[in-house]
Amino acid sequence: MIKFDEKNRIFYLETNNTSYIFGLLKDKHPVHIYWGSKIAEISSFEDAVPVDVRAFCTVDEKNQIPEETLTMEFAALGTDVRTPSFHAFYEDGTGLSKLSYKSYKIFNGKPALKGLPAIYTESDSEAQTLELELADDLKGLSIFVCYSVLPQYDVITKSVRVKNNGNEKIKLSRVMSSTVDFRSEDFDFIHLAGAWATERHISREAVMTGIQMIDSKRGSSSHHHNPFFALASKGADEENGNVYGFSLMYSGNFVAGTEKTYYDITRAFIGINPFNFGWNLNPGDEFQSPEAVLVYSDRGIGKMSRLFHKVARERICRGKYRDEMRPVLINNWEATYFEFTESDIISIAKKAKEAGVELMVLDDGWFGKRDGGNSSLGDWVPYKEKLPDGIEGLAGKIENMGMKFGLWFEPEMISPDSDLYRAHPDWCLHVKGRERTLGRNQLILDFTREDVREYIKNAVCSILSTAPVSYVKWDFNRNMSEVGSALLDEEHQCEVYHRYVLGVYEVMEHILKNHPDVLFEGCSGGGGRFDLGWLYYMPQIWTSDDSDAIERLEIQEGTSMVYPACTMGAHVSAVPNHQVGRNTPLNTRGLVAMSGQFGYELDLAKLSDEEFEEVKEQIKLYKEIRETVQHGEMYRLKSPQKDNCAAWEYVKDDDVVLFYHNILARANSPYERVKLCGLDENAKYKDLETGKIYGGDYLSKFGIYKTHGSEFTSEIIRFKKIQ
Ligand code: DGJ
Repeated sequence: MIKFDEKNRIFYLETNNTSYIFGLLKDKHPVHIYWGSKIAEISSFEDAVPVDVRAFCTVDEKNQIPEETLTMEFAALGTDVRTPSFHAFYEDGTGLSKLSYKSYKIFNGKPALKGLPAIYTESDSEAQTLELELADDLKGLSIFVCYSVLPQYDVITKSVRVKNNGNEKIKLSRVMSSTVDFRSEDFDFIHLAGAWATERHISREAVMTGIQMIDSKRGSSSHHHNPFFALASKGADEENGNVYGFSLMYSGNFVAGTEKTYYDITRAFIGINPFNFGWNLNPGDEFQSPEAVLVYSDRGIGKMSRLFHKVARERICRGKYRDEMRPVLINNWEATYFEFTESDIISIAKKAKEAGVELMVLDDGWFGKRDGGNSSLGDWVPYKEKLPDGIEGLAGKIENMGMKFGLWFEPEMISPDSDLYRAHPDWCLHVKGRERTLGRNQLILDFTREDVREYIKNAVCSILSTAPVSYVKWDFNRNMSEVGSALLDEEHQCEVYHRYVLGVYEVMEHILKNHPDVLFEGCSGGGGRFDLGWLYYMPQIWTSDDSDAIERLEIQEGTSMVYPACTMGAHVSAVPNHQVGRNTPLNTRGLVAMSGQFGYELDLAKLSDEEFEEVKEQIKLYKEIRETVQHGEMYRLKSPQKDNCAAWEYVKDDDVVLFYHNILARANSPYERVKLCGLDENAKYKDLETGKIYGGDYLSKFGIYKTHGSEFTSEIIRFKKIQ
């Protein structure tokens, strides 16, 4: 898995199908050599690591090492003048560090990261870890670059721990979780861009000479960019080409990007956003960076996604719902918004139960005096006028109907019009003397404070302990502004963004420990906090507030770059759609939502009898296919971005589910040929509807024809391997 060639000073990190190799130049500089399909060994260090002193490159006199022309494994701002992995300020006012190799440790297993989410293992035999120590002796600084390999997952994780062994204070301003320098590669940069209700659309641009980057400065990973990017060889598509994927397990401000130099080295970096970040490291203190997850695919973007999906499903999501099928739910939000009574919720649930729905989720508006978006956040006590028997009473009634009950919270927020704010006006993030800017009429609780965290732990846990609540939707409906804390002195204000994220993770860890069987669904005005870090606490996330089936095609396609179907909340809503006003057939809405965690977001009693029967059929169908969709391998066969249709296939064991969605109707349009993937080419497959038998080779190589039928129509084709 991980070996060190002592003689040649080369580290080999191996997964089942990949190698990641770097060496120690002059036993001092860790230099990246190779990452890609497996190679057994480097024949000569000198051939693999060209050392090239160019005009204007600074070199240390003794070793003649021009860092700027090397592929550095980890670079501090110093003699390397590119975008660094590391930058810190010292008491003498300088911001220069000089790192040299110090020591290494290789061991079985993969340690947890203090206070942060990380890929876990179920036994030490699943992973091996290398801790590479780099040091700046003048400043007493040690940097541990930690690599773990998970061979069966073809995944490498990287994180960085910084230790101040010196006598002076250090202020960290940039600690990238991963930096990889590629030499002589021509890449495209793929990332996910969007905004509220239009999250994670795939974007692909050529890597340019110079710096190219995406980030979030909003306090959460954000609707606008996702903490993920891929570097794809020119022409790489779903099934072909080299693709390197990087994803940060972190739910706060991040940065990710590339710097390509004239010497044709592309540095790829990902980590906490250095913007407004300054972390104080007193003598003896340590700082732990979040974990970056790295995957390499030799067979296109699709394989990169499947590698991310598998590890997210099996070694990031936790709890009983990692393996158990998640319930079909109904949520009252788009059915009632804030206007509901207990009997409205019960009648929505009754009808839903009749249709086969398993979980009734009560959304916003059940607490304090909340009749709109402008009050009561923080007052997590039932609104007695709406719910005379409280949550306990309502949840009990739903349970007695044979359904599970779920509840919405927005625990990180506080309304200025709330008892909590009146009692604790300094409990929100704010900066003394500055206006407290509202977002959706609310402020953000200061999760850097222990008293705030304790209050929220108790508020949420006391409801979960007294009422039979099986599911929580955890919402977060604004971006951060005036990011300061009343309890921190001026030296520590630039730590607030990161301390906040650590605080939220601590609260979640506590709640999960006390209520391990509750299913959590993350949400942030839809998908404003959809990242691998949040999935460690919540195995599913509401993908977008845009529930229009056609808009969802691009959103769900983009989301599937990194995140598997079992993590994507997807609901059937009413028409005309509340976000875009479009009318789409119920069948289309159902089949698009079935590519995720399936549910409904409307009052089923308002449907015609015919439509209600269709809903019953949809739920029956989803229950039959959910194992394949939720836990299967996904193949994106046609893309809504370029093909005027979407074809998504899920394969698990002998079952194959293919969704085909038409977007715009076109007169006299040509046929689309859809070639299936992931099949056993020597086996036969039966179309479960027509009974026709096809060869796996035929379906993969020839495929099936589809026409651009009517606008916004969808179909499902199911195959079963029969021999
Ligand atoms: C935003 C969420 O994305 C919606 O689904 C809903 O829960 C509202 N918040 C409630 O305020």
